[in-house]
Amino acid sequence: MSMKIEVQPLPESARKPKPTDEKALGFGKHFSDRMFIMEYESGQWRNPRIQPYAPLTLSPAAMCLHYAQEIFEGMKAYWTADGRVTLFRPQMNIARMNRSAELLQMPQVDPDLFLEALQQLVRLERDWIPRTEGCSLYIRPTMIATDPFLGVRPSETYIFYIIVGPVGAYYPRGFVPVSIMVSEKYVRAVRGGIGSCKAAANYAASLAGQVEAKKAGFDQVLWLDGVHRKYVEEVGTMNMLFVLDDTVVTAPLDGGTILPGVTRDSVLKLLRDVYKVKVEERPLPIDEVIDGAKTGRLKEAFGSGTAAIITAVSEIGYRGQRHKVGDGGVGRLTQRLYDDLVGIQYGKKPDPFEWVVRVYPE
Ligand SMILES: Cc1ncc(COP(=O)(O)O)c(C=O)c1O
Repeated sequence: MSMKIEVQPLPESARKPKPTDEKALGFGKHFSDRMFIMEYESGQWRNPRIQPYAPLTLSPAAMCLHYAQEIFEGMKAYWTADGRVTLFRPQMNIARMNRSAELLQMPQVDPDLFLEALQQLVRLERDWIPRTEGCSLYIRPTMIATDPFLGVRPSETYIFYIIVGPVGAYYPRGFVPVSIMVSEKYVRAVRGGIGSCKAAANYAASLAGQVEAKKAGFDQVLWLDGVHRKYVEEVGTMNMLFVLDDTVVTAPLDGGTILPGVTRDSVLKLLRDVYKVKVEERPLPIDEVIDGAKTGRLKEAFGSGTAAIITAVSEIGYRGQRHKVGDGGVGRLTQRLYDDLVGIQYGKKPDPFEWVVRVYPE
């Protein structure tokens, strides 16, 4: 690693009270005392440092605000049962951020510096990680274009920063299945676009479909492909998997329209290598899913993503009708994957693929 990270002192006045009620933490509302930050100019990253958490100063003409040249990541740190602080497969998030950067014409971040920044920041902020099982520290690396310039071209200056904050258990009252609605009006991404990136613009593009689904009485939106409007892609902030008879089917990544989820990859490895379950990554027509729900072939459906790990889907809305998945409860595979992934993350189960990276103690 070429650059050393400066750690600035944290004055008493910059220390915030930590939330005391871990049951009321929610998601994305609290941020810790420190942040990592560095700036890019003249073709290189400069001044990597951990400083007190503070507002950014940006020109109102900063290009990220006008042309959405902005990417981010989402990952978590955990206190394990035996008193370690760990990250889950951080190298995958780092690689994905650099792929997002490439597609949006933004600079690469040295993976070693990125990992070191994550480790140092999380180690310093470890008292912000809730100890209750299911709670964690959410980590949000972000890169924004900062040239004060109106005109569409890649920026020449950027800020990269990492903020972290405590988040609550997604299922404080147990595993609750959700309902999803197929959007026929809106699409999230198209072939040749930026659907495979964690680009802020993708999330802005998803809002109308999300509100449409909520208004129709569903929890989340299920996206179809943007070309044929036929194949199932992903849900909100999760990849989607369907259990049809004894096979798990999920959308392939080669279309470049869905996010290659870290959780998706972990689920597929567990299914293939540990559970020995048949997996197909192939275009899955929505008609096959709905037909499966009607005939009983569709045994389970679930989403995978960092926020909730595994989310059971109980109902799918399509063309004004609601279709029950399996018996409407949490399926056997869905529950097993949730238990195993959470078990690995909290250090309660063996980690056969060495996914867990220790941050503390050093
Ligand atoms: C659009 C989208 N799809 C899928 C995922 C799941 O990815 P991961 O498992 O890496 O969290 C996310 C969440 O990050 C997402 O935002």
